[in-house]
Amino acid sequence: MPGLAIFNLELKEKEFRKISDLVYRHCGINLHDGKKELVRARLAKRLRLGKFRTFSEYMKHVMNDSTGYEFSLLIDSLSTNLTSFFRGGEHFGFLAKEFLPALLERKRKTGSSRIRAWSAGCSSGEEAYSMAIALLDTLEGQGQWNAKVLATDISTHMLDIAKKGIYEKKRVMAVPALQCQKYLVPLNVDGQKCFKAGLKLRETVVLEYLNLMDDWPIRGPLDFVFCRNVMIYFDKPTQHRLVKRFWNLLDSGGLLFTGHSESLTGVEHDFKYIRPTIYAKP
Ligand SMILES: C[S@@+](CC[C@H](N)C(=O)[O-])C[C@H]1O[C@@H](n2cnc3c(N)ncnc32)[C@H](O)[C@@H]1O
Repeated sequence: MPGLAIFNLELKEKEFRKISDLVYRHCGINLHDGKKELVRARLAKRLRLGKFRTFSEYMKHVMNDSTGYEFSLLIDSLSTNLTSFFRGGEHFGFLAKEFLPALLERKRKTGSSRIRAWSAGCSSGEEAYSMAIALLDTLEGQGQWNAKVLATDISTHMLDIAKKGIYEKKRVMAVPALQCQKYLVPLNVDGQKCFKAGLKLRETVVLEYLNLMDDWPIRGPLDFVFCRNVMIYFDKPTQHRLVKRFWNLLDSGGLLFTGHSESLTGVEHDFKYIRPTIYAKP
């Protein structure tokens, strides 16, 4: 049957090595041998779309595209962008009930009104907007503050979604009704009920492209960093380097939040363990 071969695209060992080396060098994602089938399946879609007959042919096309667009599509195909509002709810509970009230107290004592947070690997923005909701709720009625949540990702496609800030109703179900009313604006998109991040959230969240492997043009010190469900894709030496860089950027008393399967066990660091996946710079 003509066309059947395209469903059985073979990813040769040499091709897999080339792709995994390239991806590792670019963004730290560790495509070890166990990921070969995932790479084959995810990139097969791109091969079919572009009607490429082999992975080598496809890779040649990617490498010849001087705009970098094809390469960014390759990275997008291989990275996982799963996220949601208030994911890992206990992190937000801890922020709202314990960390943020104590932070305001500390800031007041030092006469500082500057609060800075970072969602490192923000995907389509839900994490950063949830952080901003927790922050704005805490600051309500507390006078004037200069509070920003920096949100960065390597995927320009995900950043575009985050910048639009429009989410289907089912995606905002995790936002408590009161906060939904305060910070999200209902709207209809092609007859579908959606919600858009409101002005206060947009003023608070600053979205930028950033590859965590590159230099970070970020002015510290930061009060808290969420780097959740990102480091899991990196190897230990890369995780170690990142954790050290987060440490350098955090203020004393600042917090690092990691994803639920990303404890810092096995990573050398000076953070103080607060509770699972929450670490403080003393
Ligand atoms: C699974 S999502 C996590 C989203 C969010 N932090 C959460 O926990 O819900 C992982 C994100 O990390 C991003 N990412 C992977 N490697 C990256 C890198 N080197 N620099 C910046 N972002 C990266 C991906 O593009 C993706 O959006």
